[in-house]
Amino acid sequence: MNRFFNWHSNLDTGIKDIDVQHRQLVDYIDELYQAVMSSDIDAASKVKQVVGKMYVYAATHLTDEEELLKRINYPTPDFDKHIAEHDKFRAKMRDFEYSVQNGYPVTFQVVQFLKDWLTDHIKQTDMGYAEFMKQNKLM
Ligand SMILES: [Fe+2]
Repeated sequence: MNRFFNWHSNLDTGIKDIDVQHRQLVDYIDELYQAVMSSDIDAASKVKQVVGKMYVYAATHLTDEEELLKRINYPTPDFDKHIAEHDKFRAKMRDFEYSVQNGYPVTFQVVQFLKDWLTDHIKQTDMGYAEFMKQNKLM
């Protein structure tokens, strides 16, 4: 099946560790799409498995990024706004993971939401601290 979510250079922050993690998230969302669209007999367990690993990976990524924001003394209100976006996403992911592990199916709309959220968050929010790091010669 064709890929649903491809990496694009406009998602590059220029921060190596962060870009590696973002690429992995893109791959997990794509893997989830493939599992959701699959007619294989074990598709439902594959969906659960992908959601499980994506949930853990996303949580670690958000924590790593927040550690970075603290380390570079990223100023408020941008810092607070960034954390608030992460918190909102964390809450959604928690509900999503819980419902999937309890047998609820994953809809295409949810996969589309994950793709849109990650794309918009990287372009509009993560690029803010990447720019800050460039301006302050922190990378
Ligand atoms: Fe972020």
